[in-house]
Amino acid sequence: MKKVLLIFIAGIALAACNQKKECCAGQAAPSKAQVVYDNIMSRRSIRAYKPDAVSKAQMDTLLRCGINAPSAMNAQTWQVRAILNQDLMAKIRALDPDFSRGAPNLIIIAAEKGSDIGKINCSLLTENILLMANAMDLGTVVLGSFAGVIQKPEAKEVIAQFGLPENYEPIYAIAVGYPDESPDARERDASKAVIIE
Ligand SMILES: Cc1cc2nc3c(=O)[nH]c(=O)nc-3n(C[C@H](O)[C@H](O)[C@H](O)COP(=O)(O)O)c2cc1C
Repeated sequence: MKKVLLIFIAGIALAACNQKKECCAGQAAPSKAQVVYDNIMSRRSIRAYKPDAVSKAQMDTLLRCGINAPSAMNAQTWQVRAILNQDLMAKIRALDPDFSRGAPNLIIIAAEKGSDIGKINCSLLTENILLMANAMDLGTVVLGSFAGVIQKPEAKEVIAQFGLPENYEPIYAIAVGYPDESPDARERDASKAVIIE
């Protein structure tokens, strides 16, 4: 009886193996390096979005990837606010209708006031978010213009709704949503990255 059972289990395992082979026939799995390289090279700043909002689960993934960035002495000197609330989004848009590029959602990045290292930490967090969003077929663009938008006196009430600690200030935003354009890559100046042998 035991022997029959073993042969039966082996048969199922073999069938599963064959199925796997069949499904991936001729497709060598891309290496981890290739997947990461392709993701980096295919990311673009997106400035036209479909109206569909990003889900809470998607935002949660993006934030989790963001906060897994390295930070100096693991101090994690950042505050991040993902805005799903459409009333708040409307208030932010009302400050300046153009800056957000029509994105359905924003992620606000805040750094410790007066800290250069804090801003570096935020940059690393941001790139994690941009790359993960690209891997999830979401579009993003960093919005440095947000820093100017929130200088407006009427922005005070909006900023208060971010619930930031006293010693943190928003430094820029990230637009997030489903892309409604596929821009070409912008040129890079390879002479700025030099290998010294
Ligand atoms: C710190 C920072 C601020 C930026 N601010 C804006 C902005 O306010 N509006 C905008 O449309 N793009 C903004 N961008 C996007 C850049 O224009 C974009 O990254 C650059 O042109 C390269 O294009 P790519 O991201 O498609 O490779 C910003 C990017 C960075 C890193």
